[in-house]
Amino acid sequence: MPDSVRVRVPAKVNLRLGVGPRRPDGYHELVTVFHAVGLFDELTATPADGLTLAISGADDLPADRSNLAWRAAELLAASTGVRPDVHLELTKAIPVAGGLAGGSADAAATLLACARLWDVSADLPVLAAQLGSDVAFALLGGTAIGTGRGERLEPVPDHAPLHWVLATAGYGISTAQAYALIDELRAVRAAPEPIGPPDALLAALAAGDPEGVGLVLANDLQPAAFTLRPELRRTYELGLEAGAFGGVVSGSGPTCAFLCGSAEDAAHVAAVLRMEEAARDAIVTTGPVPGAQVIG
Ligand code: C5P
Repeated sequence: MPDSVRVRVPAKVNLRLGVGPRRPDGYHELVTVFHAVGLFDELTATPADGLTLAISGADDLPADRSNLAWRAAELLAASTGVRPDVHLELTKAIPVAGGLAGGSADAAATLLACARLWDVSADLPVLAAQLGSDVAFALLGGTAIGTGRGERLEPVPDHAPLHWVLATAGYGISTAQAYALIDELRAVRAAPEPIGPPDALLAALAAGDPEGVGLVLANDLQPAAFTLRPELRRTYELGLEAGAFGGVVSGSGPTCAFLCGSAEDAAHVAAVLRMEEAARDAIVTTGPVPGAQVIG
């Protein structure tokens, strides 16, 4: 058994997020384009008696069974017939409840780290899908089309790097609440028409046309995020006014992702957002990046 296994796992943004009707199981049928960006959580798994979890870099995150990383370790152990003996040390950089799939990323990192530590083989994408809608993508990374509730993935061919600013907020939005609100808004015809399939986005990615990508970023949950947090609209508009090719609320928000023409443009947009105090942090990064990876 190795002394420890260290895994790095990226955040995701949704370049397009089309939300269909609510299914009998409570989830919504999605057509989305996931995109992994260079903002990473790190997880170290070390041998232990029993299961323990320590978290740094985030306040108020439970270090018990209610944490998806904990449940990922339990699920892998149960499905491979080993005892869940591991100490997990999680270092968070991905904001909690930020629409960037941070919790899903941690679950993916745990599956990979524990599989290596315990030397067991399992179908990790299948276990990932049982844990949450975005966990399988955190294993895969890159850019991928997600269907079903987000767990059915088809990789998008490699494309040129995209320059991003991630405008984070000092608060979170509950994913379940955002989905429930979009149902309510649609029921009273107070939500825009659902967005169409991502054909124009995929064509712009294939053509290496970031300006075209910027024009077709879209998210059916965005009106729900703006309703829950009206101040987000200003952040969104400021990023566009500062010169981004396009912007979108990621997932259920509140993080806004702005696509820029270059690293310099992204630095400028980030500086404007910071100066106007329109974000808690404005992170300059690129995508796509690989999914969860063992780094030591
Ligand atoms: O799968 P995950 O646990 O990440 O989803 C969190 C919540 O988001 C679900 O309980 C559900 O309310 C909502 N959701 C949804 N449709 C999806 C994905 C998530 O309604 N496709």
